[in-house]
Amino acid sequence: MQRLMPLLQLQPWRRFYLAMVLLCFIWLMVEPTLDFSMVQTPVKTVLITKPISLLMIMMLQLKSLAMWTIQNSKASLRSVIEKYSRTSLPQFPSNNVTSKFGTVKVSKVASLFESLDVVCDPVEVIETEFPMSMESVGQMFGFLLYVSEYPGKASISILSIPKVHDRAQIFVSCSLMDDRGSPRYVGTIERWSNRALAIPNIKCSSNTSLFILVENMGRVNYGPYIYDRKGILSDVILDGSILHSWKMYPISFGQLNNLLKDDSIVQVTSTRTGLWSEEPRFYEGRLYIDPLDKIEDTFISFRGWNKGVAFINNFNIGRFWPSFGPQCTLYVPAPILRHGENLVVILELHSPKTDLTIEFVENPDFTCGSKSRHV
Ligand SMILES: *[C@@H]1O[C@H](CO)[C@@H](O)[C@H](O)[C@H]1NC(C)=O
Ligand SMILES: *[C@@H]1O[C@H](CO)[C@@H](O)[C@H](O)[C@H]1NC(C)=O
Repeated sequence: MQRLMPLLQLQPWRRFYLAMVLLCFIWLMVEPTLDFSMVQTPVKTVLITKPISLLMIMMLQLKSLAMWTIQNSKASLRSVIEKYSRTSLPQFPSNNVTSKFGTVKVSKVASLFESLDVVCDPVEVIETEFPMSMESVGQMFGFLLYVSEYPGKASISILSIPKVHDRAQIFVSCSLMDDRGSPRYVGTIERWSNRALAIPNIKCSSNTSLFILVENMGRVNYGPYIYDRKGILSDVILDGSILHSWKMYPISFGQLNNLLKDDSIVQVTSTRTGLWSEEPRFYEGRLYIDPLDKIEDTFISFRGWNKGVAFINNFNIGRFWPSFGPQCTLYVPAPILRHGENLVVILELHSPKTDLTIEFVENPDFTCGSKSRHV
């Protein structure tokens, strides 16, 4: 048994290869005897058992191969990078400890629509007859807001966007300043399940403004997706006619500090929470790290939040979508944190966690989302 140990310590693909060789060998050994007794042995048994056992061995090996790949991917990626880069790479950091910084309460909220002049420089707004792709207006990542208007006479209007990459949230409000309220969320049109949307009449004395916030959810850059343009790539059709005269607002997150200084920020009062309509908003909280504490890596948990992007000290931590899952935490590396106050800003596209808190936890969590996922 002692002698067999090195065999078990081999890398899985070597074990797989060895097992295959061994199987062929055994088969060669037993085949003549089988042939001899084939008269009695039902041919079926051999034909069935052989592929099944082979399949089982293969499946077991593939499973361990997959686990091994996950464990070693960091190391193998590193070796590939090392091979092709001229400079030598720094040492792997040791398995650093992580910290649980606890709960941060959201202290300020700002609507994306009310902060448009902060997240989009007015000179960058583009006006065209028909919607253009994100790339053609120079917005390579993130979000682009498309705005148009229509008379809104029918009691229900049907909106369809035959081609939208990747996810469009639709809002309406009245165009005229006098009866303009905060844009009302009417639904989402997604690239994968592209359905027409029914928009109720919001009874404006003026035209109805249509806001389409399109998210670029990332690129695959492979095969048929190599030229994957983003944004609205077709006409926008309302009740059978094409909408004209569009304004496009490229959204930029470079000025989040300014956003928080802006007057449009509403102080959060607990009575208002939970009553809000669904709307993209920025939520700000402050994480305080005691100067006597060590700053360590941590994870930010989005359990209870919906979908959006998070920023810590103006550093884009990443996107979250816990209702889709399975990931509910994002890694926060220690170097972006500092002693004292740390600015945490969350752009939540739908509705926030009801108690308006942001949790900093010690461990990653991959248990979010429902089984019946809908993309
Ligand atoms: C992580 O570990 C490395 C190596 O031990 C150490 O040099 C580094 O300071 C650690 N980083 C943090 C944030 O503790
Ligand atoms: C209302 O929208 C239509 C386009 O659908 C436009 O032609 C018209 O000028 C708008 N009316 C006003 C008052 O802005």
